Amino acid sequence: MQMTSIGVVGAGSMGNGIAQVAAQAGYEVTLFDISEIQLDKALSTIQKSLNKLQEKGKLKESSQAILARLRKTSRLEDFKSCQFVIEAASENREVKFKLFRDLDAILPAGAILTTNTSSISVTEIASKTKRPDCVAGMHFMNPVPIMTLVEGIRGLQTSDDCFKRVKSVAETMGKVFVEAKDAPGFVVNRILMPMINEGFFALAEGLASPKDIDTGLKLGCNFPMGPLELADFVGIDICLAVCEVLYRDLGDSKYRPAPLMRKYVEAGWLGRKTGKGVYVY
Ligand code: 3HC
Repeated sequence: MQMTSIGVVGAGSMGNGIAQVAAQAGYEVTLFDISEIQLDKALSTIQKSLNKLQEKGKLKESSQAILARLRKTSRLEDFKSCQFVIEAASENREVKFKLFRDLDAILPAGAILTTNTSSISVTEIASKTKRPDCVAGMHFMNPVPIMTLVEGIRGLQTSDDCFKRVKSVAETMGKVFVEAKDAPGFVVNRILMPMINEGFFALAEGLASPKDIDTGLKLGCNFPMGPLELADFVGIDICLAVCEVLYRDLGDSKYRPAPLMRKYVEAGWLGRKTGKGVYVY
């Protein structure tokens, strides 16, 4: 049977981006969040992004037609006939474990449950359900409407059929799918976050100014953003959380988070979302 609808859990920056690309791909999308305010904010962000893409002629149909496939809900029970869910709630183990237990009880048998976690074990998340073979990781990159990668993560229990369906959904969304093992940070964050972390060590040592650190990497390596700019863009709290997981789960001191990164998080200087991180917005 052709799958036509997708449920997205969490209306933050990743969740709203995922809901948008799913609707652009032709799926009927239900976006869940516990906060009505967050849901309204997400829909307005999606509308702005679609309008921007429409102005540039990058949409196959009108932004209105795409928006008409999106609906919001603050009741998880609305997923009861959903065949495919992408969870993008906050990066907190207990929150994700509870959501997966609840979704497992609500979704029909055989429905697929995926997580956009950036660092939590997909195998452990899957173990909280009675359908661990139908659980996989789908790691999107920020900003989701622009970045073409989805890292697919196969938990120890993920079945071949489930993983094939996850790949097919990612490709229908126009994304390139790479397969990564279920190990801390998978591939992208395993390599990206130590670079961002090193940016904070360099800043703490006074190796160069923030702007020169970023310009060095931008012009020297052709990166679109330097490590400190990117930390502000992703959220310094998210970067710290991934670094903590790499350090704890790989048990190697080379992954220890830079104390300065931790200080920024303690100060509430989380980056663009709080108006201040390494830079002021
Ligand atoms: N919707 C629609 N269009 C968007 C958009 C959105 N959400 N965000 C950006 N754009 C468009 C802009 O309109 C612009 O279009 P144009 O070139 O046709 O005018 C284009 O994208 C470029 O945007 P800007 O001109 O505003 O700025 P930049 O040229 O600096 O590009 C960027 C912005 C695409 C974010 C670029 O700086 C970039 O690629 N940065 C690196 C992003 C990155 O590394 N992401 C991965 C983070 S790690 C992660 O997500 C994993 C997680 O687990 C932590």
